[in-house]
This record gives sequence, C-alpha cells and structure tokens, in this order.
Amino acid sequence: MKILVTGSNGMLGHDLIDVLKDNHELILTTSKTLDITDKDKVIEFIRENNPDIVINSAAYTDVDGCEENQDIAYAVNGYGVENLALGCREVDCPLVHVSTDYVFDGTARDPIREDGKIGPISVYGKSKLKGEEAIQKILDKFFIVRTAWLYGINGGNFPKTMLELAKNHSEITVVYDEVGTPTYTPDLAYAISQLIDTDYYGIYHITNSGHCSWCEFARYIFEVAGSDVNVIPVTASEFARPAPRPHYSVLENKRWIDNGFEPLRHYKDAAKEYIELIK
Ligand SMILES: NC(=O)c1ccc[n+]([C@@H]2O[C@H](COP(=O)([O-])OP(=O)(O)OC[C@H]3O[C@@H](n4cnc5c(N)ncnc54)[C@H](OP(=O)(O)O)[C@@H]3O)[C@@H](O)[C@H]2O)c1
Repeated sequence: MKILVTGSNGMLGHDLIDVLKDNHELILTTSKTLDITDKDKVIEFIRENNPDIVINSAAYTDVDGCEENQDIAYAVNGYGVENLALGCREVDCPLVHVSTDYVFDGTARDPIREDGKIGPISVYGKSKLKGEEAIQKILDKFFIVRTAWLYGINGGNFPKTMLELAKNHSEITVVYDEVGTPTYTPDLAYAISQLIDTDYYGIYHITNSGHCSWCEFARYIFEVAGSDVNVIPVTASEFARPAPRPHYSVLENKRWIDNGFEPLRHYKDAAKEYIELIK
C-alpha cells in the first residue's frame, strides 16, 4: 500500500517507519514538510499523493505545555486532525489516528472499554478528543487508536528520565496514585501495521498488557537496570504539575481482542527489552 505517515520524526513515527518500510511505499512528512494545521496544504498534499491510507502520529504531545499553549494544542490535536480527515475524505482513503488514555477522567476503577465514558480533564486530553470527534464526523473509514504511557528509542520518555535521574540521585520521588499501562512504541507500531491490513474500522484501545502506577514502573525500571535507587511514593497533588492527569486510565483492549488479534505482550517484558537496550 501507499501509506502517508505524518509525524514521522516522532517517537512512534520512527517505529512506524521500521515496521512498514519493507512491505509498503511510504510517504513521510514532518512538521516542516507538512504542517497539519495548514488546511489547504494538507488537503492538496493528500490529493496530489493519493495514498491508500494515512497514519497520523503527529501531535502536540507536551501535556503540561498544552495548558499554557492552548491555541497550539487545539490547532494541532483538534483542527490538524480535522484537516487530515477532510483530505482523506477527498480521496476516499482511511485514516489511522493515534489518540490517548487522557480522554478519560480517571475515575474508572476497572479497565476502560472503547465506549467508556469520555471526560478529559486536561487541555491535552480535550484537544485530542476534538481530533477524535472531527474524524468521526467526517469519515466512515477510520481507526482511532487510543494508547497510553508511550516510550521508545526515539523520544524523551519516563524510563529514560528515570535512568538519567538515577545517575546522580540516590532517592527519587514518583507518583503512586496514577495507574495506567506503559506501552512500547515498536509494539504499538506493529499492532497498527496489523490493523491497517483489515477493514475493521472504529475505535481501538491498544496498549501492552498489565498495568501499574508510575511508582511501580520506576521500581521495575531500576530493578531491571540494576540501579540501587530508593523510590519514594508521592501523590500527584504533592508532585504538582501544570496539567492534571487521570488517576486511573487502564485501557481494556477489548475490540482488538474481539477482532481476533493477539494481546500485546506484558508491559514488563517490553520494558525489560527496552531498558536493556538503553541502560
Ligand atoms: N507519548 C505518550 O506517552 C503518548 C501517550 C498516548 C498517546 N500518545 C499519542 O501518540 C502519538 C505519537 O506520540 P509520540 O510520543 O510519538 O509523539 P512525539 O514524539 O511528540 O511526535 C509527534 C510529532 O508530531 C509532529 N508535529 C507536531 N506538530 C505538528 C504539526 N503542526 N504538523 C505536523 N507535525 C507536527 C512533530 O514533528 P517534528 O518533529 O517534525 O516537529 C513530532 O515529531 C500522538 O498522537 C500522541 O498524542 C502519546
């Protein structure tokens, strides 16, 4: 297939290229070559290139930055996605869009299904929801893939930050009252490569298996890395950040499993592989 991948310079974007490049013709764009907030250019670009499918991994992903730069957040995560959907409608091609567990409010107590009650509590989550809504209004053929707590080789992320801090700290405070599922970007990219071979359109939750708090994840990272760091649990309110995060955002990968796909491996197995690569 001829696949347009936006955000190809990003953490997930790099891994999408890796899993797709051998079997597909890729058109890769970055914020410099295709700013998704430029509606006319986006529609013209899609019309000219006439892809079989578009995968959008571009986003304004700085969760705290979104609180301060609301205009950018909505422009990229809301209108930018709408522009891509309009372009896809012109050439009748499906859109794969990557969304987030932060569209949920964090009050759930059990893993959240795709039709769970939406209620973003941060500007980032609200702006990502705008993108989801635009797609559903404009397109029939779409995959909205909500995922969570991403980490991979080509981007800043929690495991990297922890290992960096461990170099000159013997104690690190980490939030224990936010629970989710760390997800390794190569695993997610591979899942997306499987999804696009189907026409099982709709909303998906795709994460690695299992769940933990940030604090548990930090302890696991140090255990695998062999670092002797004391992790001190704190609440999110003690560890004040500009954007509120959901306290619980574990995503049940229900439609993924119901449609016959294999569950992604446990987050501990994926994280072990990653930490051993970067430590
Ligand atoms: N990171 C997480 O923990 C997490 C969790 C859940 C969901 N997600 C979602 O997963 C997706 C991938 O995340 P990621 O962590 O791989 O993101 P990332 O590393 O921040 O990459 C995002 C890319 O978007 C591009 N971009 C930003 N503004 C743009 C614009 N106006 N036009 C075109 N491109 C633009 C950037 O391009 P340049 O580099 O070219 O400037 C950047 O490379 C995003 O949709 C994100 O919302 C992420």
